[in-house]
Amino acid sequence: MDAYSSLELSDSEFSSIKDLVFSTTGICLGESKRELVKRRFAPRVRELGLGSFGAYVRFVKSNDSGEMNQFCNAITTNLTSFFRENHHFEFLTSTVIPKIQARAAVSGRRLRVWSAGCSTGQEPYCLAITLDSVIRDLSKWDARILATDLDENCLAKARRGIYPLEDFSKTPKEIVAKYFSELPYDKSDVFAKPSVQAKAAIRNQIVFNKLNLMHKAWPMKGKFDVIMCRNVFIYFDKPTQRALVERFGKLQESGSYLFLGHSEVVQDPQEIGYRLVGKTTYERL
Ligand SMILES: C[S@@+](CC[C@H](N)C(=O)[O-])C[C@H]1O[C@@H](n2cnc3c(N)ncnc32)[C@H](O)[C@@H]1O
Repeated sequence: MDAYSSLELSDSEFSSIKDLVFSTTGICLGESKRELVKRRFAPRVRELGLGSFGAYVRFVKSNDSGEMNQFCNAITTNLTSFFRENHHFEFLTSTVIPKIQARAAVSGRRLRVWSAGCSTGQEPYCLAITLDSVIRDLSKWDARILATDLDENCLAKARRGIYPLEDFSKTPKEIVAKYFSELPYDKSDVFAKPSVQAKAAIRNQIVFNKLNLMHKAWPMKGKFDVIMCRNVFIYFDKPTQRALVERFGKLQESGSYLFLGHSEVVQDPQEIGYRLVGKTTYERL
């Protein structure tokens, strides 16, 4: 028997979990997500000795439980990988960064990038590697990458920057050697796996912070040359997605870029100040 199958999830419990997930994270759970909800929350219901999903929802909602973070962490889907949708990094290399470099002669060597929904950090590390590979005098730039996510467990992993070497099967070996250090491990242990840690040179370019995209006030003030918010929109409904693109627009000047995930399309982007310039790649008008 599965660890969670003996706990029943009633219609009303499912409905209150769906509502709470939506109001706190913007994530829209359809009817097909019942099993996912059971699978994600049952371990916590048991751990807390609460006996039912309904009791768990009441516990999360009670002001003093401090459970909201765990609740959010449990429902997020954090799948990611190094150089995922690599065409975006190619476009940064061929088009975006050279454009920013040309502009630097006039307006200074400043560069701001935001990885919104960065999960365990692979995306911002790939951004840091791309900047470092293309901009030869990067140390003379005021270049920063902001990487944010709702899930604190993911952010902790992202900050450590430690990954199993097998995650780099599609990454050129010279990139791994240049930007990651191999960590010692017990080679006599058949279960031990080699792993690597991002070197300080790329770790120091990135600031990791918790940020719920649904929060009304984002703390960022400056403008971003590049925003990557990939494979996050799929969990939101259409009005939420569009409202987010409009909010991103307020943080971008004309000629900046927004990258979304492969299945995330903005309808009539020009109506909200963007134009499509490549695969799920938008330029601010
Ligand atoms: C599938 S991962 C995508 C990771 C990376 N951007 C990529 O494309 O590989 C989606 C991430 O969005 C985050 N997320 C979901 N809802 C969020 C919200 N309301 N605010 C901030 N991050 C959120 C999740 O925690 C998760 O880490």
